[in-house]
Amino acid sequence: MKHTESLNEFRLGVCYYPEHWPEELWEDDFRRMRELGFSVVRVAEFAWSIFEPEEGSFQFGLFDRALDLAHKHGLKVIIGTPTATPPAWLTHRYPEVLNVTQDGVTLHHGLRRHYNYSSPKYRELSAVIVRRMAEHYKNHPAVIGWQIDNEFNCEISEFYSPADHDAFREWCRSKYGTLDKLNDAWGTVFWSQTYTGWEQVFLPRPTPAHKQPNPHQALDEKRFISDNTISYAGEQAAILREVAPHHWITTNGLFGHLDSHRMNDDLLDFFSYDSYPQFSSIYYDRNEENPLADRSWSQTLGAVRSISPNFCIMEQQAGPGGWVNRMDMPSPKPGQMRLWTYQSIAHGANMVLYFRWRTAAFGNEIYWHGINDYHNRPNRRVREAGQIGAELASAGNRIASTRYTADIALLRDYDNEWDGEYDVWHGPFSWQSGKAWFKALTRRHIPSDTLYVRKSTTIEDLKRYKVLVYPHPAIMRDETAALLEQYTREGGIVIFGCRTGYKDERGHCYMRPFPGAAAGLSGISVEEFTMVKGTREATFMEWDGDDAVTTPADSFNDVLLPESDSVEVVARYASDYYAGKPAVTRNKFGEGEAWYFGAVFNEVSAGRIIERLGLMSPTADWLTLPEQVELAIRQDDAASFCFLLNFSEQPAEITLREEKTDLLTGRKLSGAVTLEGFGVVVLS
Ligand code: GAL
Repeated sequence: MKHTESLNEFRLGVCYYPEHWPEELWEDDFRRMRELGFSVVRVAEFAWSIFEPEEGSFQFGLFDRALDLAHKHGLKVIIGTPTATPPAWLTHRYPEVLNVTQDGVTLHHGLRRHYNYSSPKYRELSAVIVRRMAEHYKNHPAVIGWQIDNEFNCEISEFYSPADHDAFREWCRSKYGTLDKLNDAWGTVFWSQTYTGWEQVFLPRPTPAHKQPNPHQALDEKRFISDNTISYAGEQAAILREVAPHHWITTNGLFGHLDSHRMNDDLLDFFSYDSYPQFSSIYYDRNEENPLADRSWSQTLGAVRSISPNFCIMEQQAGPGGWVNRMDMPSPKPGQMRLWTYQSIAHGANMVLYFRWRTAAFGNEIYWHGINDYHNRPNRRVREAGQIGAELASAGNRIASTRYTADIALLRDYDNEWDGEYDVWHGPFSWQSGKAWFKALTRRHIPSDTLYVRKSTTIEDLKRYKVLVYPHPAIMRDETAALLEQYTREGGIVIFGCRTGYKDERGHCYMRPFPGAAAGLSGISVEEFTMVKGTREATFMEWDGDDAVTTPADSFNDVLLPESDSVEVVARYASDYYAGKPAVTRNKFGEGEAWYFGAVFNEVSAGRIIERLGLMSPTADWLTLPEQVELAIRQDDAASFCFLLNFSEQPAEITLREEKTDLLTGRKLSGAVTLEGFGVVVLS
């Protein structure tokens, strides 16, 4: 049974590592945490060698003293199971637990996640430590919940130890039953890959053109890794439920090859995420036009919300971030830590813990800064955390009962994400289009959700939204197409981009005209198509209407052929030999409509569609906001809170045509109001 009440109360807190500090510091640390308004700490997620310094010998003294002291100061505790970091004695005695690369290189002790999920020995030893910890802490008055492991599939999300090959073979056996079915699903008749005995089946191994396996096998590999991770986590969850049924269970992070939705549904009470908004600038903004930088984290938080409508930020960036050798993130400027905290809350967080209380003085993360510096003197970040703590002491619980609301959802699904890692004919497009839509919407102050299309998705899930944007679902099951047809027939609007609907669940191409499964709904076929690349200049499309705007037709062009009278051509290609042919169509379907956009979306073309559909900000009639300010709305039956987040260092001029109160300060606001650089108000 799920603990649905676990996030009813708002909590602010911090990640704390008592094992890193002289014990004399603990009391002062906990006292100061309370002064900042913190009520929860997370501990122990890497402390296996403290709890079990030798196999079978368990020591709880250090954490007992730390937890008792935390309790004395009124702090609640989340305990992490320490399985992301198996101790040296363990990996030395049982080297079969280690992870191995596809090339056969064993990954050793020294970092973390050097283990594999398949080793029976590792599962056994994990179960022992988790059970011991649960038994020991089940009645501790400070403990409220558990984090399983730490960031499943972070650092590495591929596993090739002998135990993984064995587990994959078993997974294939239970999925397909017979080799004939497996051969059929993987299309092994191509290049004589047919298997005649189960012992010939492995995870993809190096091939002559190195990392180029059979694509259908590669897709199944991702599904297997996901199932295997969930099964490993499930063993821990089952122990915790059995031993400490009154505690809640979560895990943190959103990483590759893992169906976090299923993991959450099957195992967890709610999902947790680690929010480091500056990753956007150091990793994701390259080659991007007009990037959103830290604001793009709002889109990621939308994906977290699709797993768990309210969630926990188990690690919130609280300083400059960096490992000794990589991830060199600048210091947040004054106000930015506060902005990011409210970004998380605006998008659904009901519990936020900063990472970390004090910067580590040793190890790989000596530059991953906590609120406190090594010297421990009060600094700007500590003062900012105190301001947030004071604001949320009264506002937090008023916000906690509400949920983020949006009328538009951007659709995604795991099959296409995993298939698209290998298939360059659609994979890179989804990311590009998803970002383009998010930018076009957020800059117009139109909140949006992310919705994962799963086999369990129902018509009610879809009907919560007026518009669904599903940019490039190359893999589309006929059942999904039927669901989208029903949604549209009953009045919904669906928008597809190029490369829609042409593959089945195995990743085989349907032997039907494109867009395959989506053909009936979109009312068109794809006459022909091309990559826009290499031998071809950039291509363009011209939109109908008086202004005849021309926009780039990025990356891929599906040349469309209307197949039904209900189809209206909204834009035509304006270059290459297919100039004049339809590029964007809109098909009336029942009470609703289905759009087909022949290219990869960019911000300007998404904006064009938004305007054609007349989509507006839900606060347009009483609030005028500049582009730099994000609008997010959390509401329930009793209250509605509009979060205004200024992502610019420059002040923002906003206009309220109704008087509102800022929940954080109690200030009444109306007319022209200046929101300071990185400023936040929550209007109620
Ligand atoms: C997270 C992780 C933390 C810490 C932090 C900074 O991914 O959960 O343990 O490593 O990043 O690198």
